[in-house]
Amino acid sequence: MEIRDDVLHPLHEEPLSRREFSKSAVATIAALTTLSAVVEACATLPTAESIHGEVTPAELSRRAELSGVEWAMWRDIAHLARLAPTPHNTQPFRIRPVDPHTAEIVALSERFLPDEDHGNRYVASAFGIFAATTEVAAATLGVRVRILAADPIDVAGLHRASAPTTLGTVTIVGDKGPSSDARLLDLRRTSRIPYLDRLVDADVWTALRAIGESRGHRLLEYNAPDVVDATLKLNVDALIDNLGLDREREEIRHWYRTGPTPQFGDGLWERPLNQSAFEIRAAFGSPGLFHLPIIRQLAAHRYLNTQHGTRHIVLLCGAFATWLELVEAGRALFDIWIEMARYGVYMQPMGSMLTNPAYAARIAQRFGVTDCWLVMRAGYSDLPPRAPRLESILL
Ligand SMILES: Cc1cc2nc3c(=O)[nH]c(=O)nc-3n(C[C@H](O)[C@H](O)[C@H](O)COP(=O)(O)O)c2cc1C
Repeated sequence: MEIRDDVLHPLHEEPLSRREFSKSAVATIAALTTLSAVVEACATLPTAESIHGEVTPAELSRRAELSGVEWAMWRDIAHLARLAPTPHNTQPFRIRPVDPHTAEIVALSERFLPDEDHGNRYVASAFGIFAATTEVAAATLGVRVRILAADPIDVAGLHRASAPTTLGTVTIVGDKGPSSDARLLDLRRTSRIPYLDRLVDADVWTALRAIGESRGHRLLEYNAPDVVDATLKLNVDALIDNLGLDREREEIRHWYRTGPTPQFGDGLWERPLNQSAFEIRAAFGSPGLFHLPIIRQLAAHRYLNTQHGTRHIVLLCGAFATWLELVEAGRALFDIWIEMARYGVYMQPMGSMLTNPAYAARIAQRFGVTDCWLVMRAGYSDLPPRAPRLESILL
């Protein structure tokens, strides 16, 4: 693919003056000499070994209890429901069986992202995703479940709860023939690799729009190359600027993992992220580096290369404020995402532009919408690497 000049210099509309250039070059050289210190500074990123907490005797005894034959259906449902996508792969939801027909869905406060996800709206909306995934999971096992969201829920306070918060109940209500959707739960993945530079058929967008509308949300699709390029550039700008926000960066640092992707785990690992360990370490070890013009341009260029071949930008718009609105929004997102998987279409949410109010305002202005809550890039890609899931989400 031909690399255009504005892709190489996406963050500066004006060319750098010679004086600015030599200033930034000196700063860059100085910064590069500190890279070994950067790697040192990043020793605090969690690794596969450091993310498994201590198991208490009470937890061990509950695990033994849940291995009983009467809980087999919950074990099977939970095993598939683990595949529900969550922001930063935080996996905050647990299924807590009460009896062989009833379970609670609870959220763990320490897995919310209150500094980045203001008001906990995105993680709370993932409850809607989790509920929809649980329904599909049960259907593939031949049973029908009814999920009721608890109401009211103090969404903005979810990260402060001292015990797991019950967000809903799931009841096995009957039998249903197995659906063919089981494989879709696995095929639906976030694709952060380059896309195949091919337009998705208009009929597919019509079908996806109808799914959004059935849940009260509007799916807006754009494929004009200038709109796609400008949005990808805005996103990389937001990503880099957000690295400069100390509280947000320190919060998400906790979810970035380097090393080989383990079979079981949570968080964002370098392969599914399509970022090298060095890039991840540099981003968190010395975020100031990325504000030096040349390093910023190099980082943006490298990041945009991971997104080449993108032909569509998609916006999801609709009510995204109250608890029940968030649940419905999450359900809409899941329904669209799983249907994309059926058509072989992948996507990558680009949340950094919407959690940062300045960028959210630019999205609103560019697209002429005031209620957009998710921006994605979408298209065809090779099968992306799988993100790990925790071994069990039964509680
Ligand atoms: C509400 C929501 C927002 C997300 N935002 C982003 C994002 O901004 N950037 C990104 O690369 N992935 C984003 N993701 C994707 C998750 O990181 C991904 O679902 C998770 O790591 C599990 O991987 P999987 O989707 O491949 O199963 C988001 C997911 C959800 C549910």
